[in-house]
Amino acid sequence: MQEGYLVVGGDSLVGGGVIRALKKRGHTCVATTRRKESVSDDRVYLDFRDEAVFEAPSNINYAFIIAATTNYERCETDPEAHVTNVEHIPRLVLSLLDQGVFVTFISTNSVFGGDQAWPNEDAPHDPRIAYAQQKSLGEKNILDGAKAAGTLELLNIVRLTKILTPDVSPLPGWIETWGKGEVVEPFSDLLFAPMSVEFVSESLVTIGEHRISGMLHLSGADNVSYTQLAESMARRLSFSSDLIKPTTATAKGIEIAFKPRYSGLGMERTTRLTGLHPQMLDDLVDGIFPAPKEN
Ligand SMILES: NC(=O)c1ccc[n+]([C@@H]2O[C@H](COP(=O)([O-])OP(=O)(O)OC[C@H]3O[C@@H](n4cnc5c(N)ncnc54)[C@H](OP(=O)(O)O)[C@@H]3O)[C@@H](O)[C@H]2O)c1
Repeated sequence: MQEGYLVVGGDSLVGGGVIRALKKRGHTCVATTRRKESVSDDRVYLDFRDEAVFEAPSNINYAFIIAATTNYERCETDPEAHVTNVEHIPRLVLSLLDQGVFVTFISTNSVFGGDQAWPNEDAPHDPRIAYAQQKSLGEKNILDGAKAAGTLELLNIVRLTKILTPDVSPLPGWIETWGKGEVVEPFSDLLFAPMSVEFVSESLVTIGEHRISGMLHLSGADNVSYTQLAESMARRLSFSSDLIKPTTATAKGIEIAFKPRYSGLGMERTTRLTGLHPQMLDDLVDGIFPAPKEN
């Protein structure tokens, strides 16, 4: 079998980044899509809901399972979200493992609930919201199935913290407000440990190249508030810190579905086995707001 990578979820935020990172490193890469009109030689059709067994393309021996139902609201209210995340995706993972394909399943920091500081790769789960409960059950179904089939050595589960892009709310609004010389009001009581798509994607490809089985984490280096993010952005974009007036979601009466005390993930095992380290906030901000090129 040739060495090639399958990206399940070619149209997702993370999937797009992984495809770019794989191509940059010269790897063979096939993506899946459920948008029939966009199928081509390197984009094959896959919808988790189809009953038929998905046969991995013959040039593939590694798969990143990235697609999922990710919308918190849909996970709370739509029974199909549960079926997708807890039944259909594990069924696909176990089928690919049976076909001899090495699999990375992408999960989330939210399985830990947000009360544990820097949970390591084998910390106990404590999921609070439907999305997190579904990802946690998805992990369990995959691990139980792979153990029963004797394919655990072909599997890793990589949990991610929040991914930040320049388009994610409220970043574009802040920049527009600062541009008018006006003050923004970031929340000091909303914490996360953000990473860039590029950091996550490059790190996932490194993990893929090492073919390490077991549990792994990718995380931002600090639990930061939106106020700290605003300060780092203002420095990077040369706006005055006087244009930042911290407030809280509580003070604004805004209900937030997942409001963890801690968001960052411990990466001890991941760092030991891959050499990957958590991403620093300033590196993230510098990466997503690159300096303009000089002529
Ligand atoms: N983004 C984050 O901050 C973050 C943080 C932690 C973990 N994660 C995890 O990382 C992974 C990727 O997240 P993301 O933000 O990149 O996802 P995303 O942009 O929300 O994309 C989800 C993808 O899943 C596809 N999908 C949904 N149902 C499907 C089905 N039945 N069959 C086939 N494809 C289906 C969607 O297809 P369409 O495009 O056709 O709708 C979409 O492309 C997820 O597993 C998520 O849990 C993400």
